[in-house]
Amino acid sequence: MNRKAITFIGALLITISAVSMAFAFGGGNARKGKFLYRKNCRSCHGKTASDLSPASMVQADWKATFEDVSKIPCNKDWQGLPEKDINDIFTYLHDYAKDSPTPAKCS
Ligand code: HEC
Repeated sequence: MNRKAITFIGALLITISAVSMAFAFGGGNARKGKFLYRKNCRSCHGKTASDLSPASMVQADWKATFEDVSKIPCNKDWQGLPEKDINDIFTYLHDYAKDSPTPAKCS
């Protein structure tokens, strides 16, 4: 194999892993996510912070928001929350988004 081919395959692998990382969230447990959202997020959201609920955004916005959780303003307040729990929360917010078949408001 020549150098060009190796460089090409390397670039391809990097692209594939970057794409799969960007879509790492999804397919979690929405029911658990609802519970976790109430427990970890509603302490502020709806009180001291914006009244954020699944129906606050459309699915594409939730995806974009969770693509880089470090950019969410309160990210440092939920450091230590396992990736799996964040994924369940994402799944809950995403699956009941404004443009989902079953939009949900937090109560
Ligand atoms: C200690 C308080 C606190 C906690 C806990 C908290 N947040 Fe926040 N959050 C804020 C504040 C303050 C802001 C920025 C201002 C606002 O949106 O009200 C914010 C902003 C956000 C935004 C951006 C909103 C937008 O309109 O762009 C998202 C998304 C978000 N939080 C999600 C979460 C999630 C998910 C959790 C639970 C894992 C959580 N927050 C827990 C205080 C908190």
